[in-house]
Amino acid sequence: MFVAVEGIDGVGKSTIIMKLKDMLERTGYRVYITAEPSQTPIGRLIRDWLLKSGSKVAHPSVFALLFTADRVQHYYGEVKPMLDDGYLVITERYMESTLVYQGAMGLPMDWLMELHKFVPRPDLTIILDAPTEVVISRLRSRHELEVFETDREFLNRARELLLRRASLNNYPVIDAVRNPDSVTNDVYRLIINALRRVI
Ligand code: TYD
Repeated sequence: MFVAVEGIDGVGKSTIIMKLKDMLERTGYRVYITAEPSQTPIGRLIRDWLLKSGSKVAHPSVFALLFTADRVQHYYGEVKPMLDDGYLVITERYMESTLVYQGAMGLPMDWLMELHKFVPRPDLTIILDAPTEVVISRLRSRHELEVFETDREFLNRARELLLRRASLNNYPVIDAVRNPDSVTNDVYRLIINALRRVI
């Protein structure tokens, strides 16, 4: 099974996924964790160039094209081989990230969807949610802020789009303001229930 964990910056995706891996492995599952931007050369280009220089050097469409190209390469080069090998694959960020971040940059949703024509859908998409004020104060205490992290209005737009996408597609939304163990428990339960349905 292929699971995508989505949410705006600072919502706690990495922490929850790490804890989740432990819990699932203790239950007996073989778990493979990955993330986007990925470790492919396209992912590296995104991190080293695009996210460092920001929207001053590139048109929003370049963001959408590179993130989506990275996704196709990530899926076929890394995710699919692990799924074929019997792993439960969990990715931190997937197509919803492009739909809502590049959507928040002003790109039309139907074009972003069209770009994802060759992107296989996850079996389960889980949204971690917290108010923008909460994530910004978490990010501030963590590190120097990255390009999208400094802009409260932008993150607000991305969050709203994500919540709209969630209700449209029936993605479960988990309240991520609580302590990490409760959040992880909720996500764990969603995955176990979904696994029971597919097996
Ligand atoms: P992030 O998850 O913060 O990666 P890292 O932990 O390696 O810094 O992602 C980097 C930024 O890229 C983040 O602000 C979200 C943004 N992003 C998009 O705008 N579109 C996308 O499709 C993806 C995957 C990420």
